[in-house]
Amino acid sequence: MDKFVIRGGNPLVGTVRVSGAKNSALPCMAAAILTEEEITLENIPQVRDIDTERKLLASMGAEVDFGTVSSQHRTTISCRTLSDPVAKYEIVKTMRASSLVLGPLLARTGMARVAMPGGCAIGGRPIDLHIKGLEKMGATIIQEHGYLEARASRLKGAHLVFDKITVTGTEDLLMAAVLADGETVMENCAREPEVTDLAALLTAMGANIEGAGTSTIRVQGVSSLHRATYRINPDRIEAGTYLIAGAITRGDLTVAYCNPDHLRAVIAKLEEAGVRIDIPAADAVRVRPGNGLFATDISTEEYPGFPTDMQAQYMALATQAEGVSLIKENIFENRFMHVQELVRMGANIKVDGRTATVRGPAKLSAAAVMCSDLRASASLVLAALVADGESILDRVYHMDRGYERIEEKLRSVGAEIQRMGNVFAPRVPAAVAD
Ligand code: EPZ
Repeated sequence: MDKFVIRGGNPLVGTVRVSGAKNSALPCMAAAILTEEEITLENIPQVRDIDTERKLLASMGAEVDFGTVSSQHRTTISCRTLSDPVAKYEIVKTMRASSLVLGPLLARTGMARVAMPGGCAIGGRPIDLHIKGLEKMGATIIQEHGYLEARASRLKGAHLVFDKITVTGTEDLLMAAVLADGETVMENCAREPEVTDLAALLTAMGANIEGAGTSTIRVQGVSSLHRATYRINPDRIEAGTYLIAGAITRGDLTVAYCNPDHLRAVIAKLEEAGVRIDIPAADAVRVRPGNGLFATDISTEEYPGFPTDMQAQYMALATQAEGVSLIKENIFENRFMHVQELVRMGANIKVDGRTATVRGPAKLSAAAVMCSDLRASASLVLAALVADGESILDRVYHMDRGYERIEEKLRSVGAEIQRMGNVFAPRVPAAVAD
């Protein structure tokens, strides 16, 4: 099982390039199911979840190019025939976002057999809102043996109101609606940029969508969709993670190929904490030290609020801030798995329900720590970058799910980080989804 060895203390200086957004690429790849023609996606990140999605689509009968060295950030998918519209548990258990194929399979083939994703490290991760919306559009869905069996002769347009804001729920039902008979109005939708990315691809494929990126999305169903080529937006969470890497090491780091507009809440919070932020170009953000690092409170919210996917990373920074920071996690019920590992490195953090109280600054000392989920892993990398000594991070396969070549990118701006592969270890068990 691969580990990272990180020696803390170096300020990060230079420029890192952000990859395409994993959470845009996943729904966009699933959208290929909606047409017989070829979909080409560019700026795809080379991360484990993307490979899992490629395997999932191929297992259903899609022709998927797995990216060659020259075109490793591009993928071409043709779902001319879907011989086996089943999302098998062996694949779904490693990536819960596989539920994103449910809506497209129903819309394209009238049937779907999708393993229930099950829970994961950060919470129960139900998909009841996906099911409720599809049933309102005329699908019959039964759950048995851990699978959803869904059928629909042809989905009908409907007026849907989400009980809770759900990102993949919005994406799943948007993909169901574009081929449905008639108009679908979806209210209380997620406004994340990943939803807007998906809507842009679907529109390029011939869909009729209004309001993506707002709480109300209106879709006029069409009879078929066609080929398209689409470039995925930059990953705002990867970008935010590197902004914090620059801030926590008191370096001078430019995060390039990102979209500052998608980072407004994170940038505002970093400035409130005393970090100096500049926007030197339309696709770049630069962080430098200000006159100190000060405690601030965060409360995770749906976009455009402070993202839950940045909570763990921000907590690492808060351990170095002067004062008491209150960190409230409103989206997931168990997203403090990083706390105990940070405490083992010397952080002063107390958790009470969904609120963590962080007292700083705390001198962090290097330790052997365990990664538990994608963003908790990022938090431990950030802490190790300032800890005194050499930290060992185990189970970094969690990182590999969503961060492309993070050790190379960090090394390129001065971090002392190495990946230690244990060549004699058995194949890494499929990572539990998060
Ligand atoms: C997406 O997950 C992201 N994953 C997550 O990123 C992200 O943390 C999350 O949105 C919130 O922003 C992908 O896009 C692949 P939700 P998703 O449905 O869609 C509840 C990462 O680190 N809910 O918006 O699964 C749910 O339990 C990952 O990259 C229901 O109750 O999250 C949660 O409390 C982690 N019923 C809340 O809604 C449902 O049917 C928001 O979940 C669906 C969701």
